[in-house]
Amino acid sequence: MQIINPHFIFTPDKILSDLAVAYDEKIEKIAPLSELETIYPDAKVTQLQENSLLMPGLINAHVHLEFSANKTELSYGDFINWLYSVIENREKLITGCEKECMQKAVDSMLNSGITTFGAISSHGMDLDVCADAAQNVVYFNELIGSQAVMADALFGDFLSRLDSSKEIQREGFYPAVAIHSPYSVHPILIKKALQIVKNEKLKLTAHFMESAAEREWLDESQGDFKDFFSKLLSQNISITDAQEFLAAFDETPTLFTHVTKANTQEIQSLAKNKHTVIHCPISNRLLGNGALNIAQLNENRIPWICATDGLSSNYKLDLFEEMKIALFMHTNTPLLPLANQLIRSVTIDAADALGLNTGAIAEGKNADMLVLDLESAPSEELAIHLILHRYNISKIFINGKTIKG
Ligand code: BEZ
Ligand code: FE2
Repeated sequence: MQIINPHFIFTPDKILSDLAVAYDEKIEKIAPLSELETIYPDAKVTQLQENSLLMPGLINAHVHLEFSANKTELSYGDFINWLYSVIENREKLITGCEKECMQKAVDSMLNSGITTFGAISSHGMDLDVCADAAQNVVYFNELIGSQAVMADALFGDFLSRLDSSKEIQREGFYPAVAIHSPYSVHPILIKKALQIVKNEKLKLTAHFMESAAEREWLDESQGDFKDFFSKLLSQNISITDAQEFLAAFDETPTLFTHVTKANTQEIQSLAKNKHTVIHCPISNRLLGNGALNIAQLNENRIPWICATDGLSSNYKLDLFEEMKIALFMHTNTPLLPLANQLIRSVTIDAADALGLNTGAIAEGKNADMLVLDLESAPSEELAIHLILHRYNISKIFINGKTIKG
């Protein structure tokens, strides 16, 4: 058992002071230091400095490590142009991002306080790095392929990647499933994958309604995707529509990423089926996809969480930066409630969506914790200050192990 005695503790609802935390892999007890020292006389006590803040480690539910080599290769501003640039540079980016490059991405997340991440893996090339990462990892094996003739081969490849990830046996590593998107995965493949998800109770994610091109293609088989599909995949009509796609996920709570172009009926379906939306504000801006309607999600009580997406559509993997952009993007949302919701979205709300016992400084939660060095005592507006000021992270704990500090 260890005891840490910070000046302040950030919980989802309030800021605590004059309390210490006893933990091993989990947070065992939160109480005044003298009480904890009586209960755990052999525990090592770490006394923290003035204005230190203990808060939960951050959770980045959506990142693509395999595309971490991108800096200037991909075209920004328009979704379809970006997608063409991804296809054109795919080989170069994938072969240009070997273990060291992905490790750098994982390390950069850790340095910015990310203690859990959801890795969307297209090829399984990031498996070793994720298996060896200090962080908790939800490893989403991605299924892609809209052409029926390719279905068996692509499903076989998906299954073998899923099996490889199931062989990783370590605390904090969770094999999971990603469906790429409605336009890129054949409905028969989706049904087969979801059967596995249900049987094995795996976590599930999918991109959904990211671009105007996706909206038009799914609704009318028209728009920017028409040329794309006819030239590259010899398809003239969409394999599905949004309603059929979403129906496959009914009663299987899923993390849907982007959702910037969803209509009212789809929003109601997300609410009814207890899905969560993953909001990637920087990616949405860079790919010309507009801003997520967070007011509509809040009105419909749809949980939404903030994530970075990959370096293919971002310049860093840093949730403090991501929250800052979100704070400035949603100009009509009252500032302090938005800041509070953003902090929850990368801690307790993200943990709940991923089904993980973390994301809060609370008894019984896994001891995934950060110590931030504030410059003065926190006020009621702490969430705003956490987002605006890059406070130093002096200690990081994951499952009770000291990772930094
Ligand atoms: C496909 O594999 O069918 C696909 C991949 C990316 C975008 C669209 C379709
Ligand atoms: Fe993504």
